[in-house]
Amino acid sequence: MITLALSKGRIFDDTLPLLASAGVEMLDDPQTSRKLILATSRPDLRVVLVRATDVPTYVEYGGADLGITGKDVLLEYGGSGFYQPLDLGIAKCRISVAVRKDFDYAQAVKKGSRLRVATKYVDIAREFFAKKGVHVDLIKLYGSMELAPLTGLADAIVDLVSTGNTLKANDLIEVEPIMEISSRLIVNRAAMKLKHEKIQPLIDAFNTSVSQSASNT
Ligand code: ATP
Ligand code: PRP
Repeated sequence: MITLALSKGRIFDDTLPLLASAGVEMLDDPQTSRKLILATSRPDLRVVLVRATDVPTYVEYGGADLGITGKDVLLEYGGSGFYQPLDLGIAKCRISVAVRKDFDYAQAVKKGSRLRVATKYVDIAREFFAKKGVHVDLIKLYGSMELAPLTGLADAIVDLVSTGNTLKANDLIEVEPIMEISSRLIVNRAAMKLKHEKIQPLIDAFNTSVSQSASNT
């Protein structure tokens, strides 16, 4: 049996075409089912649904052989407890700094004043501002980051941006991109050796599908 860890939502949805390219269809639908272990058309392949931030933990410790998760999650998780053979080019977005429209970010950064930054991505934010020589007080949040500058909790946020609609709807502006994000395939180290004949063809099929999508854009 091969176990693939996915999170519900965009990663699950964007993975379906990749699985289809490997000849795999889902037999259960997370929209209508409360099951956490989902069967596929391949009796030796199942999908487990976990929180996005838990995917690396499942793969590192063998709760899953494979996983798909964002580069943002992998950078915050840290370590090298698994292989990362493929950038799948799905769930694309960027991590950026955003502030209220009336906040003078350029001036705050130039003056060397301390910036209060709220984010789920404390390691990424710490490294980014340290490289710029900006002093920051980091405030860890787990969601709804956009609220922090609006309520006075922070001067700035470091969060994911895709269309920019969420920032716009909350009267915030993106002032500095930090890095581009997409989702990666990760593989348990032991499984890569012990289940190589089953895992390698999946990696190859995903790779072919990713290359085809890239050449079509
Ligand atoms: P958790 O369940 O742990 O709270 P989450 O709510 O961030 O995680 P998702 O919103 O499904 O989970 O995001 C999963 C991944 O998709 C993120 O880690 C990121 O790589 C990517 N992502 C997040 N937001 C966007 C977006 N607006 N557009 C494109 N990709 C995104
Ligand atoms: C993510 C992210 C932003 C939003 C950005 O949230 O945290 O809030 O997407 O996307 P946009 O630029 O296209 O508006 P998500 O939709 O995943 O909701 P969440 O708060 O449940 O993570």
